Amino acid sequence: MHAPPKKRRILLIEDMVPLAKLYIEFLRNEPLDVVHVARGRDALASAESRPPDAVILDLKLPDMDGLDVLRALQDRDPGVSVVIVTAHGSIDLAVEAMRLGAFDFIVKPFNADRLNLTLRNALERRALTRIVEGYRKDLDRDRFHGFIGGSDEMQAVYRTIESVATSRANVFITGESGTGKEVAAHAIHRASPRRDRAFIALNCAAIPKDLLESEIFGHVKGAFTGATADRPGAAMLAHGGTLFLDEICEMPVDLQSKLLRFVQTGAVTPVGSGQEARVDVRIVAATNRDPLAEVQAGRFREDLYYRLHVIPLALPPLRDRGEDVVEIARALLADYVREEGKSFTAFAPEVEARLRGYDWPGNVRQLQNVLRNMVVLHDGAWVTADMLPARMAAPPAVPCAPSASTGPASAGGVLPDGDAVVPLWQVEKEMIRRALRLTGDDVPRAALMLEISPSTIYRKLQQWRSTEETAV
Ligand SMILES: Nc1ncnc2c1ncn2[C@@H]1O[C@H](COP(=O)(O)OP(=O)(O)OP(=O)(O)O)[C@@H](O)[C@H]1O
Ligand SMILES: [Mg+2]
Repeated sequence: MHAPPKKRRILLIEDMVPLAKLYIEFLRNEPLDVVHVARGRDALASAESRPPDAVILDLKLPDMDGLDVLRALQDRDPGVSVVIVTAHGSIDLAVEAMRLGAFDFIVKPFNADRLNLTLRNALERRALTRIVEGYRKDLDRDRFHGFIGGSDEMQAVYRTIESVATSRANVFITGESGTGKEVAAHAIHRASPRRDRAFIALNCAAIPKDLLESEIFGHVKGAFTGATADRPGAAMLAHGGTLFLDEICEMPVDLQSKLLRFVQTGAVTPVGSGQEARVDVRIVAATNRDPLAEVQAGRFREDLYYRLHVIPLALPPLRDRGEDVVEIARALLADYVREEGKSFTAFAPEVEARLRGYDWPGNVRQLQNVLRNMVVLHDGAWVTADMLPARMAAPPAVPCAPSASTGPASAGGVLPDGDAVVPLWQVEKEMIRRALRLTGDDVPRAALMLEISPSTIYRKLQQWRSTEETAV
């Protein structure tokens, strides 16, 4: 005995009730569950609560443009099969709908056979797309919401993003500078049911400390000098969507306690106001520091850390992603060649080997910079090794002694002149100190000058601080 086949759900969107009744009559003998609505808005609500397998859509609706309804249905479920019903005079519109991805259209008046046949085909396509989607889910991907790379390390990242996207749980992203933390935050939002609502990003390191509270929670007119009108903050603007707090470890500790309250209760109190509002946001936080070390050093509140660190997402450094570096480089080369009007078509094998061998302290951002410079400065059909920056040259077979005029020994400070050699850590320390001095202690900018990640500098500073403390 076979179980009766599961009824397929059809959403019929038709504002003329007699016509809708006629279509339902046409489909009477099919194993279908037909839901009829007369308005666009009702159609979207119905699709949300009872997702249809196929849709019959009359483009002329009283409350919404039929093409907008089509777009919204496809945004919800890109695999849905939509059959357009159109009058003779509006075939252009139906063709436009097909261009937007509708499955087919039928011209009024039509008979039961025509409707049945079209619908059967639409349902068959739906079933096929489900099978393909199923396969695709299991397959490894080399692209995912703005990420390029098919390495095992990135497959794990994609899977985490996909599995957390549907929940409201807060996500804490860590990773060296340039590993794609912002890309990941966007991906979480886009893969989530919140994707049609706002994604609001706030960089805690880029906003002056005394303005940060108002940026997050908003302010009322007169709250401080310059507050000439009420202004909603990021938390309010992100209502229903995602709030991305970038460089979260840079947030001053007193503001961290206000943020903690918000994370616990969803209550927002604008600066200068006594009134609370409640919002529904999903928080994604990111840092290129080691958050636990920040907690231990007393710079980051432990209770806030645990509230935000519900789902950890660690982005691997580019040097640990195997072939991804070449894959990303090829995609970037194609983009830059197009943008700069150059004619490169590929990398010479030696260049690919050097891309693989280099350790990419600035990760994908550094790869972007290297390739952009190269494309701007050179031309040809192949990218050859001589076009790469000197620091990516293969290491020389015999280490060179620093020369008096060009080597680090002439750089001054603790570094001696001439042929004298000092321990490498001393050179490193001097260079980091110098970069910090030149940038006014701006760690991210110093990191850029040194072509290392800011977290490396933070780590070194901490290391030196603790060795100096123990030395005293
Ligand atoms: N896997 C990837 N594929 C393609 N592009 C990427 C990938 N990862 C990052 N990028 C690109 O590299 C650049 C840096 O990424 P992003 O800004 O997300 O890094 P980040 O981790 O936030 O860095 P920082 O800590 O310095 O803020 C962006 O232009 C981003 O689009
Ligand atoms: Mg970032």
